Amino acid sequence: MTSRLPSNKGLVSGLIALASLLATPTAAQDASTGGVVVNGTNFALNGDHVSYRFHVDEETGDLINDHFGGLVTETVPMLTPKSQGWVEDIGRVKREFPDLGRGDFRVPAVRIQQTAGYTVSDFRYRSHDVVKGKPALPGLPATFGREDGDVSTLVVHMYDNYSSVAADLTYSVFPKLDAIVRSVNITNEGKGNITIERLASFSVDLPYGDYDMIELKGDWAREGMKVRRKVDYGTQGFGSTTGYSSHLHNPFLSLVAPDTTESRGEAWGFSLIYTGSFAVDVEKGSQGFTRAMLGLNPYHLSWNLGPGESLTSPECVATYSEKGIGGVSRLFHRLFRNHLMKSKFAVEPRPVLLNSWEGLFFDYNESRIYNLAQESAELGVKLFVLDDGWFGNEYPRVIDNAGLGDWQANKDRFPNGLGPLVDQVTALTAANSSDKLQFGLWFEPEMVNPNSTLYKTHPDWALHAGDYPRTLTRSELVLNVALPEVQDFIIASLSDILGNASVSYVKWDNNRAIHEMPRDGTAHAYMLGLYRVFETLMTRFPDVLFEGCASGGGRFDPGILQYFPQVWTSDDTDALQRIYTQFGTSLLYPPSSMGAHVSVVPNQQTGRTIPLQFRAHIALMGGSFGFELDPAELSDADRAQIPGIIKLAEEINPIIVKGDLWRLNLPEDSNWPAALYLSEDGSKGVLFYFQVRSTYNQPTPYLRLQGLDPAARYTVNGTDTYSGATLMRMGLQYRFQGEYDSKVVLIEKA
Ligand SMILES: *[C@@H]1O[C@H](CO)[C@@H](O)[C@H](O)[C@H]1NC(C)=O
Ligand SMILES: *[C@@H]1O[C@H](CO)[C@@H](O)[C@H](O)[C@H]1NC(C)=O
Ligand SMILES: *[C@@H]1O[C@H](CO)[C@@H](O)[C@H](O)[C@H]1NC(C)=O
Ligand SMILES: *[C@@H]1O[C@H](CO)[C@@H](O)[C@H](O)[C@H]1NC(C)=O
Ligand SMILES: *[C@@H]1O[C@H](CO)[C@@H](O)[C@H](O)[C@H]1NC(C)=O
Ligand SMILES: *[C@@H]1O[C@H](CO)[C@@H](O)[C@H](O)[C@H]1NC(C)=O
Ligand SMILES: *[C@@H]1O[C@H](CO)[C@@H](O)[C@H](O)[C@H]1NC(C)=O
Ligand SMILES: *[C@@H]1O[C@H](CO)[C@@H](O)[C@H](O)[C@H]1NC(C)=O
Ligand SMILES: *[C@@H]1O[C@H](CO)[C@@H](O)[C@H](O)[C@H]1NC(C)=O
Repeated sequence: MTSRLPSNKGLVSGLIALASLLATPTAAQDASTGGVVVNGTNFALNGDHVSYRFHVDEETGDLINDHFGGLVTETVPMLTPKSQGWVEDIGRVKREFPDLGRGDFRVPAVRIQQTAGYTVSDFRYRSHDVVKGKPALPGLPATFGREDGDVSTLVVHMYDNYSSVAADLTYSVFPKLDAIVRSVNITNEGKGNITIERLASFSVDLPYGDYDMIELKGDWAREGMKVRRKVDYGTQGFGSTTGYSSHLHNPFLSLVAPDTTESRGEAWGFSLIYTGSFAVDVEKGSQGFTRAMLGLNPYHLSWNLGPGESLTSPECVATYSEKGIGGVSRLFHRLFRNHLMKSKFAVEPRPVLLNSWEGLFFDYNESRIYNLAQESAELGVKLFVLDDGWFGNEYPRVIDNAGLGDWQANKDRFPNGLGPLVDQVTALTAANSSDKLQFGLWFEPEMVNPNSTLYKTHPDWALHAGDYPRTLTRSELVLNVALPEVQDFIIASLSDILGNASVSYVKWDNNRAIHEMPRDGTAHAYMLGLYRVFETLMTRFPDVLFEGCASGGGRFDPGILQYFPQVWTSDDTDALQRIYTQFGTSLLYPPSSMGAHVSVVPNQQTGRTIPLQFRAHIALMGGSFGFELDPAELSDADRAQIPGIIKLAEEINPIIVKGDLWRLNLPEDSNWPAALYLSEDGSKGVLFYFQVRSTYNQPTPYLRLQGLDPAARYTVNGTDTYSGATLMRMGLQYRFQGEYDSKVVLIEKA
């Protein structure tokens, strides 16, 4: 793409005119239906720069995809090659809801075992509705519109006349965000039971061509690692069978043209709004189309539907950008910030916090904790978080093999309950500020230790499969949150604490995967139960800032973000590892949703020693910034830097939580990773710029900014003023010194 800068003249400006002509939205959009255009049984969902088009095949009743890509104004009918050989037409077309058993040999979106045992299905178009706005998805997290025109919806009703099963495909479009959302609702209209064995939320066949696929893989302490590979013939995919979204893979897929980069080229992004086991399948078929689908993991489904019952899939969001992978990320960030996160804190600046864990672990009593809170206040911290170790009496939580499930303050540590400590802590004033300290508390509500009163009372509440041994991870078992009595127990336990003490923040941890399950469907039933718990608690305690955590980023997914506006990104706080994890995580997740803390050196995970400024600058790129250390262990030099760091954090945090992110240099490509955050209106920005390795007798390249208005002038860190054109086309240069040096630069429209 040609960049549109004012100083371009002559030949280049001709190209620009052509480019802008092509990019101008011209598709007819009926204002009353937003981006949904229906002509007979031809459907189009149009965004400002995207079209998603499909139609009903008159002969077969099948839904055929015509286009998912840049904005177009009509469909050019596809010429299917003459059908010869084993693959009939059904296997040679681009299908919206590929069913099973009638000659489409590619991976199906749905597999249903009928009453009679057959798994063939034949879904045909029955009718459709256009709906204003976007209906809620009962019991599941979902994107939502805020005002008229944000979103509109098309529901296509499909029906299998042989099995009497209905499938409603609900498509919504957020035109300003170039986002298409889909979910599927299966209803058993027959007389016997059926079993849903596989259900994808979204399935699309992209045209003949070559694509690369991008995903986020990882493990504990190295989440969010970007992987890019060529999509080849056959199936390739990934998913989670852990019961949760997991550290191992994330419910996110991007398909890109082979020459697409961070800032240029066609990119599609897909994201499943779900917290449980998921599956992503990508298949390039014999005809060269690429099928991509995201949905519930078939290994954890087998969902029974009695007559009249329905199963609704989670929803999946698809976005498209011609501005590279960064373009797709920014669409997701805006969508998630404004149309997914329900917390009132979603776009609010977050308080600088100090968490007790890496400083004290289990080794504390009430006065030790109060001292730590005092030291935190003296540093200028605004939120003090008491981590693990505060609960359990019969089985005190003073070690990690006891007490989970017993959510009462430990009487040895807190003889009069948490109340007096919370009162004392919240009476402290943060240094050089009129703000009182806020108090936060750690929970792991879905887990139970066999060494607990809860487990001795309710052994059946732990997930188990008959007499198979209940395997422990970190000495824990998982409660069966599918059971209403377990949901009610969790709601009551947290309500008791949150209702009796002024707790402003909850860190909701989850430190193991699910093993033995009574049946496959328990996995999804667990999620429905968990979402009920989240919804109830966030409605009851709207002023509590909830942070998700699962041994770090083991449950960093869009489903969680509906309820919790932030997630602890990784237990690995090593700043070098964090660059990769945070840049990777930001492919999908807005920076506002990332928790990032400064911890002590040598780092407890990697043993690496990195200067405080670099560690702080890395952590400042996350929306929730804080410290995870004992201030008493800080050197005088480091301690002296902290007030300045907190001042900077408070100055830039509003831009981090609400701004657009431009990844300028990637850590895998450059010794000088850099990221620019710009407020949505473009008036303010903050640039992060890092040198990883020291270089000798070698200049650092100019760093070219992106996303600015070329004609506007910007003040750089309160001193020099340059045009956007200069900053984007020539760039800035800084002198670095030694290993792990870093700069934070404030940009303001003059
Ligand atoms: C609607 O479809 C018909 C038949 O395909 C076509 O002739 C007509 O031009 C279409 N109308 C619009 C407004 O696109
Ligand atoms: C699914 O379909 C059933 C039957 O038509 C309906 O009662 C239910 O509301 C639908 N659910 C959703 C989420 O659309
Ligand atoms: C659906 O099946 C019924 C009998 O089960 C039959 O009468 C009807 O013609 C079928 N409709 C279609 C569209 O195939
Ligand atoms: C049939 O479905 C109903 C309703 O979900 C359920 O109660 C019943 O146990 C199922 N029967 C069998 C044999 O699976
Ligand atoms: C709390 O622990 C500190 C040492 O960490 C000790 O000096 C103090 O006496 C203890 N306080 C109580 C009430 O046990
Ligand atoms: C229960 O606690 C005891 C005593 O600390 C310990 O030896 C045992 O391993 C614990 N049991 C489990 C299942 O963690
Ligand atoms: C406060 O705690 C008591 C005792 O645990 C409990 O009975 C009560 O319901 C709690 N209050 C609130 C508002 O949750
Ligand atoms: C408080 O302000 C004083 C004077 O500006 C400054 O010297 C000190 O470092 C500040 N302390 C903190 C913790 O911000
Ligand atoms: C820019 O200004 C901020 C805050 O005033 C300061 O912390 C930072 O060091 C400055 N950056 C550079 C590169 O001078």
